[in-house]
Amino acid sequence: MGKIKKIGVLTSGGDAPGMNAAIRAVVRAAIYNGCEAYGIFYGYEGLIEGNMKKMESHDVSNIIQRGGTILKTARSREFKTVEGRAKAYEQIKKVGLDGLVVIGGDGTFSGARALCQEHDLHVVGIPGTIDNDLYGTDYTIGYDTAVNTVVEAVDKIRDTASAHNRLFFIEVMGRDAGFIALRSAVATGAEAVLVPEIRTDVNDLDKYLEHDYKPHKSSGIVIVAEGDKSGGAYTIAEQISQRHPEYDVRVTVLGHIQRGGSPSAFDRVMASTLGVAAVDALLDDQTSIMVGLMNKDIVHVPFNKAIKNSKQLNHNLVGLTDILSI
Ligand code: F6P
Repeated sequence: MGKIKKIGVLTSGGDAPGMNAAIRAVVRAAIYNGCEAYGIFYGYEGLIEGNMKKMESHDVSNIIQRGGTILKTARSREFKTVEGRAKAYEQIKKVGLDGLVVIGGDGTFSGARALCQEHDLHVVGIPGTIDNDLYGTDYTIGYDTAVNTVVEAVDKIRDTASAHNRLFFIEVMGRDAGFIALRSAVATGAEAVLVPEIRTDVNDLDKYLEHDYKPHKSSGIVIVAEGDKSGGAYTIAEQISQRHPEYDVRVTVLGHIQRGGSPSAFDRVMASTLGVAAVDALLDDQTSIMVGLMNKDIVHVPFNKAIKNSKQLNHNLVGLTDILSI
């Protein structure tokens, strides 16, 4: 394949704060390098329908600070099929795109991998999900902002919990992963944290509440990742309430507030760095890879690896919660 001249960019799956900063970086880096940039709307759905537009530098002005994604996003069923991807490739050929940057999580990268296995196209991924659950990169775009949003909310709940001597169970996002839960638990001084990666035993929580919580504390916070196998904050709160009617228990589910808002400086800088790195990778003839950050360095990780492997929680942080919640 010859030199890349037309680069498309799309966002797919759940949105994440910082996606706009990444789109801006891809569009401007493409133009800077003498390429044309095309924004594709509604992720792979838009690709199948040919819903795209040539982007100029001014089309991405004033978006670095905005949450959401100006390109919109979607989860496409049709793109999961060979036929759907063939339709998408027809549109790609019609416009003459020779490179594509996809911003999203592992579902997005699975689709991208299949597309470049079946068709002649260079595709590079940028990790964008608040869940931070992608192997091969220390951080994903949106995670830092989401954690900060959770911390702000939990701090507020802590005030009212303390005023009423209540035990709060707070559910945070993370369908399959506990990264948001664990980091925000450490940052807010939570009494306990429940994550899908570690089997939750209600007896252990009970023991902690009896021996460490009850004698010393009058209020507390338990952070529960939505994907925790206990069944979520309502279920576990109900079990604890039944065992301990003396606790005044409340539940808060933070929900989609965690996906919105202006991205943190960290997410903006990472999105800008990875956006430029993605275009550089395409111009370097790379394909079927994700650009990520490991120990502050830019890395190229094959889609195969990023999709197949699962990222481990930081076990130092797990230990910290136990030590600091006495
Ligand atoms: O993948 C990101 C994520 O925010 C998960 O943490 C959450 O479970 C899911 O998306 C929610 O998806 P939706 O917005 O489609 O309900």
